[in-house]
Amino acid sequence: MDVHRYNAKKNECELPMSHSLTSFFKPKTIAVVGASKNSIKIGHAALKNLLISDYDCTIYPINPKEQQILGLKCHKKLSDIKRHIDLVLISVPAPIVPEILRECVQKKVDNVIIISSGFSEIGNHELEEELRQIIDHAPIRVLGPNTMGYKNASDNLDASFVFGVPRKGNLALISQSGALGIGMIYLANNEYVGVSKIIGVGNKLDIDDDDLIDYFATDPATKVIGLYIEAVKDGRAFMNSIKACHKPVLVVKAGRSSAGARATASHTGSMAGSDTIYSAAIKQAGGIRCRDIVELFDMARALAGQPPAQGNRIGIITNGGGLGILLTDACEANGLHVPPLSKTTYKKIDKVLPDIVNPNNPVDLVADAGFYRYEASTRAMLEDPNIDGVIVASVHGGYARPQEFTGAILKMIRERKLHEEYKKPILATWVGGKEFEDMVFDLKSAGVPIYPSSWRTARAMLGLYLEGKRIQREEKQEQA
Ligand code: COA
Repeated sequence: MDVHRYNAKKNECELPMSHSLTSFFKPKTIAVVGASKNSIKIGHAALKNLLISDYDCTIYPINPKEQQILGLKCHKKLSDIKRHIDLVLISVPAPIVPEILRECVQKKVDNVIIISSGFSEIGNHELEEELRQIIDHAPIRVLGPNTMGYKNASDNLDASFVFGVPRKGNLALISQSGALGIGMIYLANNEYVGVSKIIGVGNKLDIDDDDLIDYFATDPATKVIGLYIEAVKDGRAFMNSIKACHKPVLVVKAGRSSAGARATASHTGSMAGSDTIYSAAIKQAGGIRCRDIVELFDMARALAGQPPAQGNRIGIITNGGGLGILLTDACEANGLHVPPLSKTTYKKIDKVLPDIVNPNNPVDLVADAGFYRYEASTRAMLEDPNIDGVIVASVHGGYARPQEFTGAILKMIRERKLHEEYKKPILATWVGGKEFEDMVFDLKSAGVPIYPSSWRTARAMLGLYLEGKRIQREEKQEQA
């Protein structure tokens, strides 16, 4: 279904932005204005990233002094190129940017990324206003200024000046902070979270969060959308885009406190706005507000790898009673419910437990629990119609056998019963040290989210529950 964007400024619906951003994310001809031979310059790094991309396109370096850069013929100015240009990256000092942007408009370039800083983020509003006037009414899309650009991991195109290759996956990340966006690339790799695209929006002169949500909503490579924002320019368009998106949208909104709001103003020159209003609006639109970047990754990993929870009733299985209680508290504190076991499930689990314990929810399998206890009790929970999601936990209590805990979960994943038969999510938690490393790696690689904290696990489960609720709401609306 096409999502027509309501433009509050113009009071009308526009064509789906997904169409207009296609040549932005998949350009066939790209020019770098400010390309340099000097390897420490950003214009050099941007050109090199394009060159090492495994992506089919023609690249044009632009520099008035050079004949050739990195083996490519160099043009003195954009107008010297005869072909149509889909995307221009600008990496020249701010005062020269208006002149280059004018050339882009004259040449009918489709898209521009302005890497250069020195605009509204440092209070230079006049210069940014000049850019706005240049593109006003022109059929051109502009990212930035003050942006790192983007990495299109799903198509192997790197249109940024930032070093590093993101792990491929289905999370599209949008960041208002350049440095944080760059950090997120490495954090995502570390956390085994794969991304489809990662983009810095900078000062949002033109391309804004709502445009990108609209694009990612129809991007087949994207399953989950994550944003770091400090402020939105057009609240109505932002909320409409989240509402129209049929994928989970995770939002980290900075500037919650008054001191944080002050820091926002000096970072990107934007106003953080009322935090309560943001929270309510994001919730109402069907988005999920995350407290920080790690929580965004935790939820994204769960949403990308697991089915959403159809309700908030959670079954907990652990080999350490203390961890079971912590998980229960964390679930209940986040609006999830840990109900007593049904008679049927009690009986199934009782059969595999040692005589010294009675099954309960949380189920304590006792410290020496191996494959069989984990597998049988997890299966019993998944089969229980009163349970919507399962958390399986392992504590290295001396007797514990982490590989068997992992094996039990992996068995169910490999049987594909989780997603196809039970349609219920499984999340894992661990408490231990180095001896858990292989296990954590195996589970993360298999798409099973595993967290070293009860709170993080419960928050990720909350994300799955909220997504389940969003889908149910959407289905109801479609039926009405
Ligand atoms: N057309 C094409 N190239 C031009 C030009 C023009 N009209 N005018 C100058 N150039 C060339 C320069 O000669 C230079 O090439 P050279 O190395 O061969 O001399 C190149 O463009 C870059 O210009 P320079 O003056 O050396 O600038 P710089 O590379 O030191 O800095 C920026 C330019 C954009 C990187 C810098 O101003 C800036 O904004 N840095 C911060 C970027 C940033 O952090 N963005 C946000 C990230 S989140």
